[in-house]
Amino acid sequence: MEELDALTPLVARRSSPAAVQGSRLTFFRQWLRHPLRMSSITPSGRQLARMMAAAVSPDAQGVIELGAGTGVITQALINHGIRPERLLVVEMNDVLHELLRQAFPRANVVCGDARTLRKLTTEGGTFGTRPVDAVVSSLGLLAMPASVQHDILAAAFEVLRPRGGVFVQYTYGPSRPVAAEVCATLGLRARRHGWAWRNLPPARVYVYSRD
Ligand SMILES: C[S@@+](CC[C@H](N)C(=O)[O-])C[C@H]1O[C@@H](n2cnc3c(N)ncnc32)[C@H](O)[C@@H]1O
Repeated sequence: MEELDALTPLVARRSSPAAVQGSRLTFFRQWLRHPLRMSSITPSGRQLARMMAAAVSPDAQGVIELGAGTGVITQALINHGIRPERLLVVEMNDVLHELLRQAFPRANVVCGDARTLRKLTTEGGTFGTRPVDAVVSSLGLLAMPASVQHDILAAAFEVLRPRGGVFVQYTYGPSRPVAAEVCATLGLRARRHGWAWRNLPPARVYVYSRD
């Protein structure tokens, strides 16, 4: 696969300028293929990635990442102290999934739809029916209809621990990324976690919980 050739340096040395350029190019190519699903033309910046990871306890025993893309946030989670074996990385795009699988051989990387999270956690045997501590999402929720947002959030809160489980989401928009009606139906509370002003474009990070 042509795209995967461009990824080789990324797998070898993720932070070198060549690797960063390579991953941006791959991301852009995937955006050309699926603009709506990618929801951005460029991967997350490091400040945003660190901020997302900081919303998760480093002692977390189970963490799921949704829409991991080029793996910038996956790497930040590992740098933050999350062991790769405790990570389930979900990506729908076949090219990016293959990139992630090669870049994070010790993590559990699956190609699938975030809406089917329960099936993905149990089928792969990653967490079984054990609840997880955090779901970290890069999905473009703002561009999705409320019904799809509902299905994704409902699936996430089905696998999260009932007390203390958190759903971490960033947004480029001025308003909260999850529709108020979805929060009301699922009984979710939103808290603003931070503003990644150095990101392109700047992004706000929100944490959703049920307690
Ligand atoms: C904004 S991009 C991810 C950016 C990522 N943080 C990075 O730095 O590369 C959103 C990603 O979500 C994936 N995606 C979109 N809908 C999805 C779904 N329903 N399930 C799983 N992944 C999905 C896209 O393929 C894309 O890679």
